[in-house]
Amino acid sequence: MMKAYSRRETLVLAGALGVTACSGSGGGDNSSPPIATPSPTPTPAPTPTPTPTPTPTPTPAMTLAAAAATRGMRFGSTLAWSAAGADAGSFANPAYAALLERDCQLLVPENEMKWEYQSSAENVYDWTRADAMLAYAESKRLEMRGHVMLWYIQERFPAWLRSYDLGVNPRATAERLIRSHVQNVARHFGNRIKSWDVLNEAVEPSTGAVRRNMLADAVGGDPSIMDLAFRTAREELPTAELVYNDYMDWGSVTHRNGVLALLRGFRDRNVPIDALGIQSHIGFYSSGTAQSIADAQIPGMRSWLDQVTGLGYKLIITELDVSDRNRTGTIAQRDADVAVYGKAWLDLLFSYPQLKDVLVWGMNDKYSWLQNFSPRPDGQPVRPCPYDAEARAKPLYDAIRAAFQATTAR
Ligand code: XIL
Repeated sequence: MMKAYSRRETLVLAGALGVTACSGSGGGDNSSPPIATPSPTPTPAPTPTPTPTPTPTPTPAMTLAAAAATRGMRFGSTLAWSAAGADAGSFANPAYAALLERDCQLLVPENEMKWEYQSSAENVYDWTRADAMLAYAESKRLEMRGHVMLWYIQERFPAWLRSYDLGVNPRATAERLIRSHVQNVARHFGNRIKSWDVLNEAVEPSTGAVRRNMLADAVGGDPSIMDLAFRTAREELPTAELVYNDYMDWGSVTHRNGVLALLRGFRDRNVPIDALGIQSHIGFYSSGTAQSIADAQIPGMRSWLDQVTGLGYKLIITELDVSDRNRTGTIAQRDADVAVYGKAWLDLLFSYPQLKDVLVWGMNDKYSWLQNFSPRPDGQPVRPCPYDAEARAKPLYDAIRAAFQATTAR
C-alpha cells in the first residue's frame, strides 16, 4: 500500500501505478562532467613580454561534496538494498556506489531502518541490511542518517502492529510499544547514527490536522504519544540530532500550516526536537515557466520558514527530488525546467543558515522511487535526480552545485 499523498495522488493517473521502472533513457546532458579533474598545471611565471592570449582554462568540475564543504554544508543521498552487482540504487551496485562515493558526505537507507520493513513481531527485528549499509558507509567515511523511527501512517506500521490487540488499557499498550521500539532502534545503532528522523509525516496534508492511526486513537489523539517518541529518543541518545520529517512544501499551504502548528505544540511542551526535515519531493502543479511558478510560491514559503526557524528549529533537506512529471517538452527542456525549479528551491532554503545538510532521494533517475510512485502520464521515465539513467550528470546536478556556490558559508 502506498501512503496517502492526497495532493500527489490526485495527480497520478488511475491505474498508472506499477508501470515498470524506466530502462535507460538517453540524451539531455548539457552539463560538464562531474568527475573532479586534477587542477590544471599552474600558469608559467609572468614574463615582462606580453604573452599571447592564453587558452581559457576550464573550471575543474567540482563534486557536490566538495561544493557543499566550501560552505560548511554537506550533501548526501539515499541508497537502497540489493544483491551484489544488481542493477539498483545500492552500494552493492558499483556504478551507483561510485556516485555516492564521489558526491556524498551523508547517506540514508531508503527503507532498511523502517519499522515496517524490519520488524516481524513485537521487539523482533532483522537489522542485517541496515547493518551492512552502515558498515559500508563507515568504511567510506560517510555519515549515515537514521530514517525513520516512527512513520505516523497506519499503513506504514509493521503488519503485526496493524493487527495488534491493544487490550483493556490501550494507552498503556500504545505507550509501551512506542517506547520499546524507540529504545530498540536507539540501542541497536547507538552513537553510530548522529541524526534521526524520529517522527515522519504526522500531519494530514488535506486538513493540517495530526493524522489518526491506531496508536493516536489509543490515547484519544493526545499529542503526548508523539512527544514520547522524541523524549525516549533523547533519553537514549543524548547527543543525537532529533528530527521531525514531513513533505510540506511551497505548494501545500494547509499542510504547511498544520506542520507549523505541530512544531509550535512541540515547543510549548518542551519536546526535544532539534530540526525540521523538509523532504523536498517537489514538482510542478501549475502552468507557466519553471521560474515563474517558483517565484509565485517563494514568498509564502519564506514567511513559513521564518516562523519555523523563529521557533528555534534547524532545517535539513532530507529527500530532495524534482519531478518533471507534469512538464511537457523535450528531455532537454524538462531537464532545464527541473534545474531552474530545483535551484529556486535550494536558493530559498539555503538563505537560512540553519540549514546545513542536503540529501537527495536517489542519485540516478533510473532507480528513483517516483518511477513507480508517480509516473509520467506519457509513460516516459521521470527525471527527478542529479544523474540520468546512464549516470551522466544532468542540469539539476549543476544547479545543486551552483546553489552551494551561491550561498554563504555556515
Ligand atoms: C519511500 C521509498 O522510496 C520506497 O521505496 C518505499 O516503497 C516507500 O517509501 N517519504 C519518506 C520516505 O519519508 O520514507 C519514502 O520512501 C518517500 C516519501
